[in-house]
Amino acid sequence: MDHYCVLGNPVAHSKSPAIHARFSELTGQAMVYSRQLAPLDGFAATLRAWIAGGGRGCNVTVPFKFEAFKLAGTASERAKLAQAANTLKFSGDRQLEADNTDGVGLVNDIQVNAGVSLAGRDILLLGAGGAAAGVLGPLLAAGPRRLVVANRTHGKAVELVARHAAHPSLQQLLQKTELLAQAPQGLEGNFDVIINATASSLGGGEVPVDARVLKPGALAYDMMYGAAAQGFASWARSHGAVPRDGLGMLVEQAAESFLFWRGVRPPSTQVLQEMRKALA
Ligand code: ATR
Repeated sequence: MDHYCVLGNPVAHSKSPAIHARFSELTGQAMVYSRQLAPLDGFAATLRAWIAGGGRGCNVTVPFKFEAFKLAGTASERAKLAQAANTLKFSGDRQLEADNTDGVGLVNDIQVNAGVSLAGRDILLLGAGGAAAGVLGPLLAAGPRRLVVANRTHGKAVELVARHAAHPSLQQLLQKTELLAQAPQGLEGNFDVIINATASSLGGGEVPVDARVLKPGALAYDMMYGAAAQGFASWARSHGAVPRDGLGMLVEQAAESFLFWRGVRPPSTQVLQEMRKALA
């Protein structure tokens, strides 16, 4: 039986074990998936022990995604762009391969599960931390007309945009998308899709942007789910936008990790529907 896990701190409330258990059931893949708590100063040691014990791969969550990327011998293009990894695979020769499936998970949830096409649309990404960095490349790849990054600390948004704008693998995509950083207070125009990749709701903070950035009927996506997503959702609803939480992103990034490990794509939309029913 092949072993996988999610490594993080904290990790007790992670839904990844339940999601992967259902994926393996539905695809007939023989595997087990558990949680592993890593001490804040002991990620590398925990990872080494997991590999030595025969683990085949893992997901990596807060706060270790950057460290996971740095430890890997090889990385996918999207992990390099994010400079962070949420998925590691250990091959027979103990080579550590990194991927980042967060961005494609977000894009698939928006385009497939929510049915909102991103090509030619105007997108606002709020935040410039690890969560935002993980999704910017895949959002660009979806071919929006305009992609604006806005962050409380404006310099971080400028840096994130500059890093992507200079990246050789994105030059062709950048011919059809206008990518720019703007200060949250100075945002120009309004948007079809706005994505909250800030941690503001965790501290019970206000939505860090004025509601006039929403086009009528815009999709207002929060990468959080559960109680943490409620403030943003009611703000969106009260301003005529359609809220969506990050549960689908969680299931979709898991599906892409499962594909990376097993070469089989699980029925993610079905599993998302089951999870929504169970939570309702
Ligand atoms: P994560 O991995 O979740 O992205 P992070 O890298 O610490 O965590 O980034 C947190 C993001 O949330 C940052 O963009 C941060 O803005 P700053 O760069 O200015 O710190 C943003 N953020 C956190 N609290 C916020 C708040 N109350 N209002 C607006 N933005 C906030």
